[in-house]
Amino acid sequence: MTEIKKGIYWTGYIDWNLRNFHGYVTPWGSTYNAYLLADECPTLIDTVKYYGFEEMLSRIEEVIPARNIRYIISNHTEMDHSGAIDRLLDICPDAEIVCSPKGQEGLLRHFAATSKKEWKFKVVNTGDTLNIGARTLEFFLMPMVHWPDSMATYCRNDKVLFPNDAFGQHYASSVRFAEEAGIETALKEAEKYYANIVMPYGGQVVKALDTLGALAMDMIAPSHGLVWHRAEDIAAILALYKKWAAYETAKCAVIVYDTMWHSTETMAITLCRMFEKEKIPVKLLSLQANHISDIMTEIMRSRIIAVGSPILNNKILPTMAAFLTYVKGLKPKNRFGVTFGSYGWAKIGFKEMEDALIEAGMTLGTQGKYFNYIPAASELESLNEIVLQAKRALEQ
Ligand code: FEO
Repeated sequence: MTEIKKGIYWTGYIDWNLRNFHGYVTPWGSTYNAYLLADECPTLIDTVKYYGFEEMLSRIEEVIPARNIRYIISNHTEMDHSGAIDRLLDICPDAEIVCSPKGQEGLLRHFAATSKKEWKFKVVNTGDTLNIGARTLEFFLMPMVHWPDSMATYCRNDKVLFPNDAFGQHYASSVRFAEEAGIETALKEAEKYYANIVMPYGGQVVKALDTLGALAMDMIAPSHGLVWHRAEDIAAILALYKKWAAYETAKCAVIVYDTMWHSTETMAITLCRMFEKEKIPVKLLSLQANHISDIMTEIMRSRIIAVGSPILNNKILPTMAAFLTYVKGLKPKNRFGVTFGSYGWAKIGFKEMEDALIEAGMTLGTQGKYFNYIPAASELESLNEIVLQAKRALEQ
């Protein structure tokens, strides 16, 4: 239990050894942040994954008897935040579940089939308020940041925003505030989190920032990772969200590839050297050595995205197909895409790469560079054409 502000306690669960969060690698684990407002009507904002229930409960009981909880605010249905509600209701059966209309639908679908108890819902919309004693809470629906049900809870009395997934990071730590872990670490993990969780919803993030950005904020307390509370850190994370939501990129390139007999790798390395010669900062990332969730952070930063694969059984390699499926879902718009690869007897599979980048929202240059078996020196030299195209794209 940590009192993050007078009468507001962090009562979450630290998932130290989590290494994969639905496909996103989490080398530092994560936290599921629940916040207890010890007011006249004790209120818990979000819970934790089902297996973190006991730890959350013990943290709550360090402050108040959990049976006294009057409201459980469910800002978001996803089970990393709602997974402990049903067990908590065994202890405080009269507590009301405060959630958005979509939240109610989602919670019913997730838990109605197995729950043996009645869930008492209090459905709220943007602008609705809830008085819990000395404090009045205000709600802001934030559809698609991260699910249709997502909402933020704001405590005007304490100037604290509880935005659930927004502004979070997958980062387990025994400290609660961003500067205690190191602001660089916090911002870096927030960037990876945005790239892998929030990026497809830039338009909705812009709308949410229009509303939430106008609130007086002493603290942003997300549902994962560290809490932002120094004025400069709050300003920094808000500015970064604005930039990421606008799909802003740096004038740099990332090359993502896989290879069978090193022909595609040779092309990738050649492209990398050519970008270097053109003074375009570049990163060379093999799908054998890098996880796609780490690659997404580089893609979010970069204007030029080059992808290369050989052809296997008329298709691109399964590693590349999986990566492109991920990219299509996350939709990193406003990028210039380049494709390349080697083939034996059929080039048809390359269309899948080209189509995937277009579907992801990228602009492609002219024909990708595809070479038969082993690229000849003159063919490798011709890769410079796509580097120059990319350079022109950077200048636009
Ligand atoms: Fe942390 Fe969308 O759940």
